[in-house]
Amino acid sequence: MAELVRLARQDDVAVITIDNPPVNALSPGVPEGIEAALKQAVADTRVRAIVLIGAGSTFIAGADIREFGKIVSGERPRLTLLPFLLTIEDSPKPVVMAIHGQAFGGGLEVAMAGHYRVLAPKAQVGQPEVKLGIIPGAGGTQRLPRLAGVPKALEMCAAGDPVKAQDAVALGIADKIVEGDFLAGAIAFARAVAGKPPSKTRERDEKLPGVPAAVFAAAREQARKQARGLRAPLAAIDAVEAATKLDFFAGCEEEARLFNQCLFSTEARAMIHVFFGERAVAKIPGISKEVKPFEIRRAAVIGAGTMGGGIAMNYANAGIPVIVKETKQEALDRGLGIIRGNYAKTVAKGKLSQAAMDQRMALLTPRLTYDGFEQADIVVEAAFENMALKKRIFAELDKVAKPGAILATNTSTLDIDEIASATSRPTMVVGTHFFSPANVMKLLEVVRGKATSPAVIAIAMALGKRLGKVAVLAGNCHGFIGNRMVAPYFREAQFLLEEGASVEAVNQSLYEFGMAMGPLAVDDLAGLDIGWAIRKERATHLKPGVRVPLVVDKLCEQGRFGQKTGRGWSKYDENRRASSDPEVAALIERVSRAAGIERREISNQEIVDRCVYALVNEGARVLEDGIALRAVDIDITYIYGYGFAAWRGGPMFYADTVGLPKVLARIEEFEKKHGKDLWAPAPLLKQLVAEGKTFKDFDKRKEAPG
Ligand SMILES: NC(=O)c1ccc[n+]([C@@H]2O[C@H](COP(=O)([O-])OP(=O)(O)OC[C@H]3O[C@@H](n4cnc5c(N)ncnc54)[C@H](O)[C@@H]3O)[C@@H](O)[C@H]2O)c1
Repeated sequence: MAELVRLARQDDVAVITIDNPPVNALSPGVPEGIEAALKQAVADTRVRAIVLIGAGSTFIAGADIREFGKIVSGERPRLTLLPFLLTIEDSPKPVVMAIHGQAFGGGLEVAMAGHYRVLAPKAQVGQPEVKLGIIPGAGGTQRLPRLAGVPKALEMCAAGDPVKAQDAVALGIADKIVEGDFLAGAIAFARAVAGKPPSKTRERDEKLPGVPAAVFAAAREQARKQARGLRAPLAAIDAVEAATKLDFFAGCEEEARLFNQCLFSTEARAMIHVFFGERAVAKIPGISKEVKPFEIRRAAVIGAGTMGGGIAMNYANAGIPVIVKETKQEALDRGLGIIRGNYAKTVAKGKLSQAAMDQRMALLTPRLTYDGFEQADIVVEAAFENMALKKRIFAELDKVAKPGAILATNTSTLDIDEIASATSRPTMVVGTHFFSPANVMKLLEVVRGKATSPAVIAIAMALGKRLGKVAVLAGNCHGFIGNRMVAPYFREAQFLLEEGASVEAVNQSLYEFGMAMGPLAVDDLAGLDIGWAIRKERATHLKPGVRVPLVVDKLCEQGRFGQKTGRGWSKYDENRRASSDPEVAALIERVSRAAGIERREISNQEIVDRCVYALVNEGARVLEDGIALRAVDIDITYIYGYGFAAWRGGPMFYADTVGLPKVLARIEEFEKKHGKDLWAPAPLLKQLVAEGKTFKDFDKRKEAPG
């Protein structure tokens, strides 16, 4: 194994280099290596100052996250880094932390134990631990307020967002930005401070006193609002507050106590699962690294409606020229107008420069014909959800697109194979299913048809990444992973209404569970007419005698399409604020009584169990059918596409944390009450329970070779 830490000397300055690719994480061996090198440098009488730097593109980007999992599972004891950082801080020779790239988490904690910090102009520092459900655990919550001041430390530790080099210097986290040759600049800085008595961060108390209690109260309120249900941001605030009340060492003890509380929480396990899950979904068995995806240089989109416009923006944002085709000039004008409006809003918020907006708009070419399509490497169809129309469009694309171009559809539910059958090149046809609003939502479901070539899958997955999305591979079935599972979720939400729950209770219970919005609020946002159209097209697929929701079509018949018409499940004012609608409550009651449905009190817990276990049960079938490769693919789909709380870990991880035997027992209860057509437990769920296994175990089996 290559050396993780190297020591060199340039005249009177020792240079300690961490070399633990890819991000110089603080894996076992790294702190020990730094400490040994430091001791050697201190002992070397020729050395007057020490520089610590990272090899490659970054300083220490953080702890080794795999280690957290090992500590929680008991595989490894938790070793605190505090004594190691004291050794750095107590060095009699000044230690200059030279930060390029990132100093995140444990990386910033190491950096703050040094006596000086110099930054490359593009460097960033931060304590993002809360994003994994934990808090800094090596003195970060104690040293950061001493450098940056309490309010900023609260913000950085509770929200986890990074700080840019210029701001880090202004805040006092770092001393200087070094332009030009970074190492040479850091050495020159070290030489300039050599001989001065090093000042220890832990002894710098001048920024701690006098912080009004209101600052902490405001931070807590903000954290409760922004990170609903999360413990870690509040723990981070408690730890920073401890820095203002206790001496450094007692503060570190309090931090350690809070850190342990967080680390062993379900919340942290869930968020760490999501962190690795995001990376895991990119691995597609059977597609070897040899499949070299070609680069998408030009794109074209059919349709400038809700989805087409957002999809075109994704391409323009990535610097890819894109043609947008419509059938009528006015539709084209409307679509482009909405795109322009979206960009203008971002410019107004100061998040995009006018020049960047102009550049992006210039990448969009509006068209009413297929002119220019022959140059596109990918065409994405986002016309109406209608099979006959899509087949006609694909037959046309087959004629105009160049050989080798990818023909993608944004269909949310339709059969990719049937769409592909309209072309002479089904191997080049794939689903790239964006989520609404397409310029915002991070999920991209890549749908594999039976003929789709591995290269096309590889390109679509790589493209997802380039467009800033998390791409998950799905198999071809009605609704793929996400929408197939969401159907029983919505179904249960509506059955609950018919059985006596109110619209508000259903929405609120699931919101409190951790969904970004309640299901009926989502329905109203997406537009009830969308599902109505799909139901009409699929009426022949209904199984006779199986219960279906009765109310939603009645709402549609009354022109209540949700937010767009000001009325759906709820009423909406001109600011799109929802309020309950007694007419809807009366309609639900009338319809359910007429259908002979017994109405009763329904608990919030039943609402959550019915809706979430409907997801889990269908999710297990999605796995059985091979529509999702792994349970984690479902979790990531739900977190990035459907607003499922990351701290719950996704539906399948959530089921694991509840315990699959308990989940199965509840599903069997529902089966008894509501019938096997709706609630027969998925065979895979029964099998895992019989074997005493979890969905996580199912994934491990999938990863095992052979
Ligand atoms: N709206 C959503 O939330 C959502 C989410 C994911 C996927 N989808 C899917 O995306 C697709 C588009 O949905 P949408 O909501 O954007 O619909 P939309 O009605 O907003 O837009 C469709 C656009 O396609 C245009 N169009 C129709 N035929 C065309 C043709 N031959 N050439 C060029 N343009 C044509 C229409 O004029 C219209 O502007 C559908 O397949 C839908 O199922 C929608």
